[in-house]
Amino acid sequence: MSDILLAKSNLDADVIDAAVGEAHIVRDTFLSIFDISGFDLPPANKIWEYQEPQGYKPLIKLLEDRYQAPVIICNGAKQGLGSCFYALKQLGKSNLGVKMPYWALIPPLMEMHGLSFQSNDLSKIDSYLDVSPNNPDGHMSDLKFLSEVLSENKIPFIHDAAYYTHTYLPSSYNLDVFGDAQIYSISKMFGFSSLRLGFVVCKNPEFYKLIKYYMENMTVGGLYFVSNIFI
Ligand SMILES: Cc1ncc(COP(=O)(O)O)c(C=O)c1O
Repeated sequence: MSDILLAKSNLDADVIDAAVGEAHIVRDTFLSIFDISGFDLPPANKIWEYQEPQGYKPLIKLLEDRYQAPVIICNGAKQGLGSCFYALKQLGKSNLGVKMPYWALIPPLMEMHGLSFQSNDLSKIDSYLDVSPNNPDGHMSDLKFLSEVLSENKIPFIHDAAYYTHTYLPSSYNLDVFGDAQIYSISKMFGFSSLRLGFVVCKNPEFYKLIKYYMENMTVGGLYFVSNIFI
């Protein structure tokens, strides 16, 4: 996508990565002054360094095994939404359909990414965001039907799956993967909102590439400790 090496790439062990500004001296000085051995930290020096843009590898593996689709870690579902809005805009979409009632922060986040909000006239839409279960009313769309209709009409489909867990749905409900991108929130899944952890399950390779590029530019791969706590 770009010839600028913005973030850490997965290089062979014998290659010195001189492109990434890792503040080794600052960190070593900090550790020589503060004793953090009381914290239960893994010993590897790597824990202090930038992760790959898609996130902490062991967590990615765990989630990709679970969802059987590529996954990108984000700093909360909110950033996941931002990354999907960016991807839609890059794919030439500008009218995102959203059902009523909607979570109040959706329209401003869309506008920040150059998308306009459509909830009344669905004939105008060129992309669709479904929050199911919905915030604020808990409405659960028929995601299978929705994804089939949208895909027949070549309309990209984002599923905000912040509440799509057995905390909010009956345990008999199958939590299948739907949409070009499906966004999860650890805030809602476990009640740990301060961790700022979320992830996007990305079946569409075009979305995967664009969301990864967004994450590479906006942050890099989430926080090691946070990803580790989750595992
Ligand atoms: C529908 C919906 N999506 C996303 C979010 C953001 O969650 P996170 O804390 O993971 O950014 C919220 C938070 O209230 C929400 O209600």
